[in-house]
Amino acid sequence: MQALDELIGHVEAAIAAAGDERDLEQVRVAYFGKKGEVTALLKGLGQLPDDQRRAAGQAINQARDRLQTQLEARRLALSAAQLDSRIAAETIDVTLPGRRSGQGGLHPHTQTMQRIETIFRNAGYGVATGPEVETEYYNFEALNIPAHHPARAMHDTFYLEGGERLLRTHTSPVQARVMENSEPPIRIICPGKVYRVDSDMTHTPMFHQVEGLVVDRDISFSDLKGTVIDFLRVFFEAELAVRFRPSYFPFTEPSAEVDVECVHCRGEGCRVCSQSGWLEVMGCGMVHPRVLEMSGIDAETYTGFAFGFGVDRLSMLYYSVDDLRLFYENDLRFLAQFR
Ligand code: FA5
Ligand code: MG
Repeated sequence: MQALDELIGHVEAAIAAAGDERDLEQVRVAYFGKKGEVTALLKGLGQLPDDQRRAAGQAINQARDRLQTQLEARRLALSAAQLDSRIAAETIDVTLPGRRSGQGGLHPHTQTMQRIETIFRNAGYGVATGPEVETEYYNFEALNIPAHHPARAMHDTFYLEGGERLLRTHTSPVQARVMENSEPPIRIICPGKVYRVDSDMTHTPMFHQVEGLVVDRDISFSDLKGTVIDFLRVFFEAELAVRFRPSYFPFTEPSAEVDVECVHCRGEGCRVCSQSGWLEVMGCGMVHPRVLEMSGIDAETYTGFAFGFGVDRLSMLYYSVDDLRLFYENDLRFLAQFR
């Protein structure tokens, strides 16, 4: 009986000490398994004298039942505690903001290009495109710039191997291609990339131009002026002053360059406009009769105007960026500002 009391003490201590279900299982095997100590006690009953056997058997069985009940209660408690801690560890805080995947955006020049296209489409223009790798014919000859014409030197052309093909230096060749393939009335813009051997704060070797071309009966310089002035005011979302300066392009006659009141200083004079108060934004003019004829359009019946401007330059002014090269450095800190 004394041995039984001691054993009960050990088993109770072992049950209390078990930290998890695995420990507890070891306790069960150690005391109640086939070779367990409690089992051994029961097996030892046979050696007791008859008069003690019955009382001892009862005591041991009672103790065993009570200990097994304790063991089972402990097992349930440990299992519940383990579940609680697992739930706590795996809790999802649904109020935490999710991790966003990085979102790209359109390049500022693309956005400017899209705005320009929308403005002209709303005014009834179509959009035409042409190849970036051009022939000398379309880039120069069809535009009344014959070989050895001094205007060729102004274009700083990238020639491809063999010297017959080149990277177009402006979008004007698309004018010639469209006129060859269609009949007036023509009213189109030609957006695209152009290339020149050029690089500084306001020039990059690749840039974007948009060409405009309108050919119909009775098209006059006043149509050109009205179109250009309207476009610039809609584009800059401001009633800016616009001026036309006489200029020269071999493919237009008369020709003009267009200046717009400096969008930064409103004509006061600042760094952006080199203190002049004006910014040059495009070249334009009445399509030269020889250019019309070369493309198969009767210059006696039809007249037309054309203009060409740098999209990058307009982006720069619209977004107040003072170095054109920033647009091409792919610095996401810069580009992310335009999303
Ligand atoms: C032309 O390219 C003519 N084809 C424009 C034209 C079209 C005149 C139709 C008449 C009729 P110009 O070389 O000036 O013209 O270039 C036009 C515009 O392109 C310039 O006003 C400027 O805004 C832009 N530009 C020229 N070179 C660069 C460059 N390297 N980087 C960025 N923009 C440039
Ligand atoms: Mg120029």
